[in-house]
Amino acid sequence: MGETQSNKWQSRFGQRYANGSGIEELMDDLGRAMATGDKLMLGGGNPASIPQVNELWKQRLMTLAQDADGLMRALVFYDTPQGHGRFMEALAEFLNREFSFNIGPQNIAVTNGSQNALFYLFNLLGGTSTEGVHRRILFPLVPEYIGYADQHLEPNTFLSKRPLIQEIDDHRFKYHIDFDALDAITDTLGAVCVSRPTNPTGNVLTDEEISRLRRYCRAREVPLIIDNAYGAPFPHILFRDISPVWDENIILSMSLSKLGLPSTRTGIIVAKQSIIEQVTSVNAILSLSTGSIGQIIAYPMLQDSSLLHVSKEIVRPYYFQKSIQAQQWLDQSLAGLPYRLHVSEGALFLWAWFRDLKIPTDELYERLKQKGVLVIPGKYFFYGQESPWEHQNECIRITYSQDNKTVEQGIQIIGEVVRSLY
Ligand SMILES: Cc1ncc(COP(=O)(O)O)c(C=O)c1O
Repeated sequence: MGETQSNKWQSRFGQRYANGSGIEELMDDLGRAMATGDKLMLGGGNPASIPQVNELWKQRLMTLAQDADGLMRALVFYDTPQGHGRFMEALAEFLNREFSFNIGPQNIAVTNGSQNALFYLFNLLGGTSTEGVHRRILFPLVPEYIGYADQHLEPNTFLSKRPLIQEIDDHRFKYHIDFDALDAITDTLGAVCVSRPTNPTGNVLTDEEISRLRRYCRAREVPLIIDNAYGAPFPHILFRDISPVWDENIILSMSLSKLGLPSTRTGIIVAKQSIIEQVTSVNAILSLSTGSIGQIIAYPMLQDSSLLHVSKEIVRPYYFQKSIQAQQWLDQSLAGLPYRLHVSEGALFLWAWFRDLKIPTDELYERLKQKGVLVIPGKYFFYGQESPWEHQNECIRITYSQDNKTVEQGIQIIGEVVRSLY
């Protein structure tokens, strides 16, 4: 190949995004390993395929297919860059009726997946402002979602804090926010962000922690982004009782993905109107319009609140059962070893901590891969840190959403490999 533009010069954007990243290498490695067809995939974030839920989508699509007008609306029109009108109205009414949110469609914007929404929000709220102040996005507790890690256009905008660790019984633990560390921050902030339940740990920040974060954000005059990809009211992959909260200083991010519709790419932002207007403007430039199909599948189920029932009575118990089962298998395969699992309070993952393991968990990842099991090493979830922390090399994320046979076999191999290392 002759000399191309890309090896003579590179834009800043290209430098930031087109030179590969740790996460790209990892995802590529996982993809290639899976292509051989003989691997047990406990690494990805794909939601489970739940037959009862799939049946609902099928019914909904069949109803649409019989209604020529409905099908056309779902497929052949560009929607507005804010979203599909009926969906936004139905969602606002649903949140008001069921959770007393007191919002209207002007408080809702739809994006092509919540991954996109978070990219917009981080870059709207953090980075160098027009006055030249560098505002940072604070993750008050890492480990946090791997998919945020490289989302800011300006390097060094993310700031994160280590958690406090509560050890529970012999083999469990829970992370808590270290509010003293948050109070000591002198940087100017642009927003604070948490996922609840948290990917990768299955942690659900307590109501008390959320209240304190709300006070913290109000005092610093920055919004609190709560990424609700697994939370209430849908998909409700939540094993503790919490109620969704919203006020003008909260930006709630939601998604239809973990409800079983990841390929419709439907992300939802609930926020005060000025934020919605900004998200809509960015949407128009970056995406032109929002995808309609997921919104049109879902809106009647918001109108009659049946999405609540599906989430609480089908999706939640399905994952709860799988989490309990996967923990039992791990407790058996790791018996007698100094392991701890984060308490499983939601999401699709178990987070295992192997204290003082002889090798870092990125090497454990390689060894497990050789034995046919794919997991995610812990270090990728600790971005924005000011200093290295050994704990990040002692943890792995294990996805339990796959079929039982895959999860059981994978966990058995994890047990054998980890045992050989202690
Ligand atoms: C915590 C969290 N937020 C956001 C996303 C993005 O999901 P989507 O773009 O499918 O809505 C994911 C996906 O795994 C996630 O785990």
